Amino acid sequence: MTSTVFDRIGLLYTGDPEREEVAGAALVVEDGRVVWTGRAGDDPGADERVDVGGRCVVPGFVDSHAHLVFAGDRTAEFTARMSGERYTAGGIRTTVEATRAATVPELAAGTAALVAEMLAQGTTTVEIKSGYGLTVEDERRCLEIARGFTEETTYLGAHVVPSDAASADDYVRTVTGEMLAACAPYARWVDVFCERGAFDADQSREILTAGVKAGLLPRVHANQLGEGPGALLAAELGAASADHCTHLTDADVEALASAGVVATLLPGAEFSTRSPYPDARRLLEAGVTVALATDCNPGSSFTSSMPFCVALAVREMGLTPLEAVRAATGGGAAALRRTDVGALTVGARADLVILDAPSYVHLAYRPGVPLVLQVWKEGRRAV
Ligand code: NIG
Ligand code: FE
Repeated sequence: MTSTVFDRIGLLYTGDPEREEVAGAALVVEDGRVVWTGRAGDDPGADERVDVGGRCVVPGFVDSHAHLVFAGDRTAEFTARMSGERYTAGGIRTTVEATRAATVPELAAGTAALVAEMLAQGTTTVEIKSGYGLTVEDERRCLEIARGFTEETTYLGAHVVPSDAASADDYVRTVTGEMLAACAPYARWVDVFCERGAFDADQSREILTAGVKAGLLPRVHANQLGEGPGALLAAELGAASADHCTHLTDADVEALASAGVVATLLPGAEFSTRSPYPDARRLLEAGVTVALATDCNPGSSFTSSMPFCVALAVREMGLTPLEAVRAATGGGAAALRRTDVGALTVGARADLVILDAPSYVHLAYRPGVPLVLQVWKEGRRAV
């Protein structure tokens, strides 16, 4: 039972609305949990001392939306997009083909590399989706791999209708039947890509409802490529989160606010598909909780970097640096219905990042600079 005091913190972002930032702070960790925060010099003492040297400390980032179990590469698709081609979800099928052809050790190694990349950039909690297998066994093994890295696993058998399905109806029957039964033991969440070209409102409702009956919690890929029924469906079903939210009507925004659905914004996707960014300010003004996540995937957003997403959110989506850090920590935790991560308050998991900067503002002010100096996970040095 060792305790550690993080001393001489220049600026501590706690995530506690009562005392969100503390200048000249210290923080004590014991048994993997935060046990004390306050002014430097006032701490109750501890076995070990880490001198933070006036730098900024923030909670480990909570990346609540990522597709990490896949094989193959979509560089050519990205290059074509940067020369003016539009993003369509059709490229998902390219990754499905490569993922089916890969072995479990290959897929696990790829996932491990991305999780390590994320950790090095300050992400201490990550959600991982299936969705590039799209057969009963391929989805099952992708989720089993994901489960090896995180508790926050999401069944996304309904990513697209695979090209070898007999029909869309037939595929929905598989997703809500045999595939769900095989995947549910490895998943906490059920997700659906509710979008033109993927699954419509009725299909999405059927898939999410079947997932809920199997004990999973719903979340939705909603309103990414155009206006559509995803956000309203998320509100109707009491989903934890509606993700993307790039194209929302006033009614969508109101529905998210009154149902308490978190809007998870994924600016890496807009960046990599050269699309307009969602209006984060409009969501905040309506009282919607906003989360930021990477959407790390080989097609629409191949970044593993939460600091990059924070910078984009500030530069392109109208968030202040404080709001962006809040969305990348507490927002992500809310999107995963977690109360133990995303904040550095007494009782929280001691997942923290020491930035090589005096303030979290530098995450946006110094984009692309590796500012993550140390990462601590449950009170242990991880990076
Ligand atoms: O969240 N929108 C659907 N799924 C992914 C993209 C997947 C892909 O293009 O491979 C997303 O952006
Ligand atoms: Fe996604």
